[in-house]
Amino acid sequence: GRKIIIDTDPGQDDAIAILLALASPELDVLGITAVAGNVPLALTEKNARKICELAGRPETKVFAGAVRPLARTLVTAEHVHGRTGLDGPDLPEPAMELQNDYAVDFIVDTLMAEEAGQVTLCPLGPLTNIALALIREPRIAPRIREIVLMGGGFFEGGNVTPAAEFNIYVDPQAADIVLGAGIPVVMMPLDVTHKALTTARRVARFRDLGTSVGTATAALLEFFERFDEEKYGTDGGPLHDPCVIAYLLEPELFGGRSCNVAVETASELTMGMTVVDWWGVTDRPKNAMVMRDIDADGFFELLTERLGRL
Ligand code: BDR
Ligand code: CA
Repeated sequence: GRKIIIDTDPGQDDAIAILLALASPELDVLGITAVAGNVPLALTEKNARKICELAGRPETKVFAGAVRPLARTLVTAEHVHGRTGLDGPDLPEPAMELQNDYAVDFIVDTLMAEEAGQVTLCPLGPLTNIALALIREPRIAPRIREIVLMGGGFFEGGNVTPAAEFNIYVDPQAADIVLGAGIPVVMMPLDVTHKALTTARRVARFRDLGTSVGTATAALLEFFERFDEEKYGTDGGPLHDPCVIAYLLEPELFGGRSCNVAVETASELTMGMTVVDWWGVTDRPKNAMVMRDIDADGFFELLTERLGRL
């Protein structure tokens, strides 16, 4: 299968992205690297292991990475994800162990050892680990096949400040480094994920799978969607991170265009804003494929079918 590294801060939606990847034979998950984000690192790395065990895949390698962003103080999102980051279902403490290596070293070593152009990075949280890997070993940049990430928002605005989406806001310096490294990037911003809503009918289909994964998924989503339902008055919440994995499986579910994306790293007012040149009004180089549309029914169809295999 296609070789991927998932870099993540679980997070209910991260958890479902991991489940989707582990359920999909087209993908070979070389490792999962945890980063501080939704909750501190000690929780995100543990949550990643809980999910591997839920998927019945305790042999998956999980690594711990950066405890804090490159330059800014860590901002977390317990108000969305709960105190554990994975509130909702009652998942057991993981028995599988964390790998000894530092996540950043794992990313560098894997990219240098694998054939160039073979490994795809899937960042689902702040981009700290990826930026640190690029700083430690710049020669990895041309060896990366593609980076498919969840982050940013343009016409849709932000979800943590009026201007910024959480993953980019938490570590804008890291995002700036990643977008400036000349690596092919596919970006799933809020403009896409706010159209992937976990409606009551869609959540019921997960529960109806009748498996432990189906039950846990429904419980994760019912906790997670509360925040957005209250805030935006939608039926369901946006299922952000699984869009990244779904893109690897069925890219035709998404629509967007290639354009320049720049990240604000200086102004406090707009810190972490993704400035997307959608209309090509500058001659700044195209550095990302920015998605805007999703076939949401097709996306949930894929997700339900795949999670049903676990
Ligand atoms: C992103 O922030 C996190 O809270 C989610 O897991 C997702 O990666 C959405 O802004
Ligand atoms: Ca995330």
